[in-house]
Amino acid sequence: MKVITVVGARPQFIKAAVVSEALKGVCEEKIVHTGQHYDANMSDVFFEELGIPKPAYNLGVGSGTHGHQTGEMLMKIEDVLLAEKPDVLLVYGDTNSTIAGALAASKLHIPVAHVEAGLRSYNMRMPEEQNRVLTDHISHWLFCPTQTAVDNLKKEGIVQGVQLTGDVMLDSVLHFLEVARRNPQKAAIFEALGIAPKQYRLATLHRAETTDGGLEAIVRIFRAFEQLPQRVVIPIHPRTRKLAEQAIAQEGFHNIQLIDPVGYLEMLLLTSNACQVLTDSGGLQKEAWFMEVPCITLRKETEWVETLDGNWNVLADLTTEDILQKALHTVPDPAARGKLPFGDGKASQKIAEALKRETE
Ligand code: UD1
Ligand code: UDP
Repeated sequence: MKVITVVGARPQFIKAAVVSEALKGVCEEKIVHTGQHYDANMSDVFFEELGIPKPAYNLGVGSGTHGHQTGEMLMKIEDVLLAEKPDVLLVYGDTNSTIAGALAASKLHIPVAHVEAGLRSYNMRMPEEQNRVLTDHISHWLFCPTQTAVDNLKKEGIVQGVQLTGDVMLDSVLHFLEVARRNPQKAAIFEALGIAPKQYRLATLHRAETTDGGLEAIVRIFRAFEQLPQRVVIPIHPRTRKLAEQAIAQEGFHNIQLIDPVGYLEMLLLTSNACQVLTDSGGLQKEAWFMEVPCITLRKETEWVETLDGNWNVLADLTTEDILQKALHTVPDPAARGKLPFGDGKASQKIAEALKRETE
């Protein structure tokens, strides 16, 4: 069996790290990097640190409008598929690289395997929602991280090829958090940043709904961060950097520490030691949940509804007042943590076994 995996954005590299490992010995896998993320700290660092096989192709697509970016990926992925003739096209999540890979393969009648299938925010204005709904409807194998995802697909009439595997990001945290903890070089980040465990909050911001509000939206968020009793460390996504710097220069905030994006191992250490996470990221919400760190999600909805049980994750409107109120007064309930909604940490293995079984 020959698998072509298409990845392009940071969270996809992290998911591919564990799945590619599980696919070793099961099939011939070739990775295609679309080039959607290209800065060294948004791409290379993950391949190097997490031992992801070097991409067989880097399509160098880079940034652009949705149409330009997705269109260029589509053309270039089609060329690869025509040359490689794989048995399976594997994609992750909900980015433009996901839909481009799935669509290119589907038109060539190459079956698509979608990891992280079935998630829904039911907000069709989100580019991610468009990408994931479309990808699910042209996928042959749909690997779901949660029962909610399976149920969401059923509501859309998709039952064939659906499998509940658990979340590959749980596999990833279970494996790499130990790796990070054993590496003294990674722990040096606390000293370098001048922070002590549980004495800081960790935030990330990059989603279109956040940045589309421009400087005003970022200032509103930062005004809340400024009033929190602990420092807020923000590994800033390149999409948000300029706005964040402008907001700090304009308002003179001093409780906010902007840093460059960090590698995954450092990020796991920063997350597990934070007293709270504030984020609009999909992945980080869940990592906080896995590590029992309370999270405030700066969005109107979440696809990861299980994390809301017992207030381990709460949604906040993008207003200074709501963020501050939720960040200061939310108390998570330890009794709500009995269930295992994201599986048993063996999702990658289940995906590899399913693909082997299905293509034999
Ligand atoms: C993309 C995904 C989003 C995912 C996120 C993960 C889509 C539509 N969005 O959003 O679902 O949560 O990745 O991080 O696919 N940039 C750089 N260097 C880079 C990459 C990006 O400077 O290496 C800057 C560019 O100015 C670019 C902007 O960030 O225009 C946005 O990048 P893009 O890949 O289009 O979207 P993300 O916001 O990263
Ligand atoms: N992440 C990282 N370094 C950072 C910020 C995030 O390694 O500086 C990791 C984070 O731990 C999570 C993933 O990137 O595993 C989330 O990616 P992102 O927030 O960019 O995308 P989303 O999950 O929202 O699609």
